[in-house]
Amino acid sequence: MLITAALPYSNDRLHLGHLRSTYIPADIYYRYLKKKGVKAIYICATDEHGTPIAVKAEREGVSPKQIADYYHKLIREDLEGVECSFSFFSRTTDPLHYQVTQSFFLKLLQSGYIYEQEIEQLKCPKCNRFLPDRYVEGTCPHCGYEGARGDACESCGRYLRPTELINPHCTICGSKPILVKSKHWFFKLSAFQDRLREWLTNNKSLPDNVKNYALKWIEEGLRDWDITRDMSWGVPIPQAEPNKVIYVWFDAPIGYISSTMRWAIENNSPDSWKDYWLRGSDAKVIHFIGKDIIYHHALFWVAMLMAHGDFHLPHSIIAGEYLTLEGRKMSKSRGWYIGIADYLKLMDPDPLRYYLISAAPLDKDADFSWEDFIRRYNDELVDTLSNFIHRTLTLIERSFNSTVPDPSEFSNIDEEVLNKVKQLTALYDSALSSYRFRDALNLVMEIAHLGNKYLNENAPWSLLKTDQERAATVLYVCVQMIKTIASLIQPFMPSTSERIWKLLGLEGSPEEELLVDACKPIPPGRKIGQVSPIFKRISSERAKELKQMLLQHKS
Ligand code: MSP
Ligand code: ZN
Repeated sequence: MLITAALPYSNDRLHLGHLRSTYIPADIYYRYLKKKGVKAIYICATDEHGTPIAVKAEREGVSPKQIADYYHKLIREDLEGVECSFSFFSRTTDPLHYQVTQSFFLKLLQSGYIYEQEIEQLKCPKCNRFLPDRYVEGTCPHCGYEGARGDACESCGRYLRPTELINPHCTICGSKPILVKSKHWFFKLSAFQDRLREWLTNNKSLPDNVKNYALKWIEEGLRDWDITRDMSWGVPIPQAEPNKVIYVWFDAPIGYISSTMRWAIENNSPDSWKDYWLRGSDAKVIHFIGKDIIYHHALFWVAMLMAHGDFHLPHSIIAGEYLTLEGRKMSKSRGWYIGIADYLKLMDPDPLRYYLISAAPLDKDADFSWEDFIRRYNDELVDTLSNFIHRTLTLIERSFNSTVPDPSEFSNIDEEVLNKVKQLTALYDSALSSYRFRDALNLVMEIAHLGNKYLNENAPWSLLKTDQERAATVLYVCVQMIKTIASLIQPFMPSTSERIWKLLGLEGSPEEELLVDACKPIPPGRKIGQVSPIFKRISSERAKELKQMLLQHKS
């Protein structure tokens, strides 16, 4: 299976919203597949073309490539900092990407799915340049919003062409543009209306949010799609004059393919990308994206793949909804966001991964609230998870010489609790296989709850004085539960899982343990590691301090 995460634009750093909608769910799913023993790779790259980067470069007086280089490195560090375990993280300025994009384009041109047409474009008379996408702003013809851009209106979410804007002006110098004729290339999206409808309706693995949005757009009618731009930054149009490039939304998804090729080359098996992409192979491709780019993936990209014919259509497209911050929409321009790097300066990645998943189901918006973050950290990670492990292991350290005790015969209660753990594991598996990340995480926490309850009811600390054998059995059962927790929590909180594994004195790594073995008992007699709590309470004073540091400059 090929897992991809949307290619972030390399014109800015990422914040918690990006992680929540796209990168963390994709990473968890990829790690889960590996636990299922599925051959899988996780591919991403930076999306380095388009007017946002060109405009930013212009404003800062540097080249677009310099902007792309700078942010590529930071984005990659930030994502790896929160333990996104990419098989390869590429870039769309890779020369290989240019080749693949151009040959994709040519194939569609030759088969008649791309055609040329002269159209009128906006041009700034003062800057003497065409004004595609973000080079122009004006009033939205649909909703009247005055800051609409040449590609879309942020207020009503509709896609626009620059010539549709009312009162347009150049974003660089403010001049009023004039209309000038220019040759463009169009992709025959309209020809795919019926095939797309059928694909969307019949694909059982597509989630409802993707299906419903996309079908609604189809009912509104699909127009042919202008896939070229009059500018110099981008993949050049083959056999065309200079200063014409392929539109970034045409080249970016092809980046999923070219990045897989680059991964294959870096892995010394240059043909292995074919196992994932070529029709006829039994691979499945799953794209993880945010809800704002469903149109591009479920319609544009799928139609491009249909037109091309050599590659798999996506098996599924998982679209994460958004994250608000303290109840308000996050906004980079207004400074209302938490950057990944800001967070990582203060805390470990795992509590964040935990929170972003547990806050709400992926197909619903979620809110990051500091109070709620701290409350869940203390109540769930400390009181439920960490305490269960800590209580069990401290007793083993003190009373069993740090050795996993030898159980005697299991009572009905023991059998029941171990069976329940098996059931929860099966539910976890089916939740994850249908992308219900929050449900799966809650099921792991339910094992920890169950463990605390079992511990309280059986009170091994009292048994130690009256019935040493029974105390040994109870603690042994707890160790089994902890081991299952470590294994199941691995895709969500990889380093926490690793730490629990070490605490249990287990060899190897929880990453390597297959899901079918998650409930396989570990033998008695094993030395456990040095006991210390995996999470410690955050006091309210410390919580206030952290909040200050994270949100002080935010408006
Ligand atoms: N470059 C395109 C994707 C091309 S894929 C062939 C892009 N980049 S992005 O940097 O704007 O977004 C990266 C990912 O984060 C996308 O999945 C996008 O949907 C998601 N999000 C963008 N803004 C977001 C929020 N404010 N909140 C949550 N997710 C967000 O889109
Ligand atoms: Zn201008």
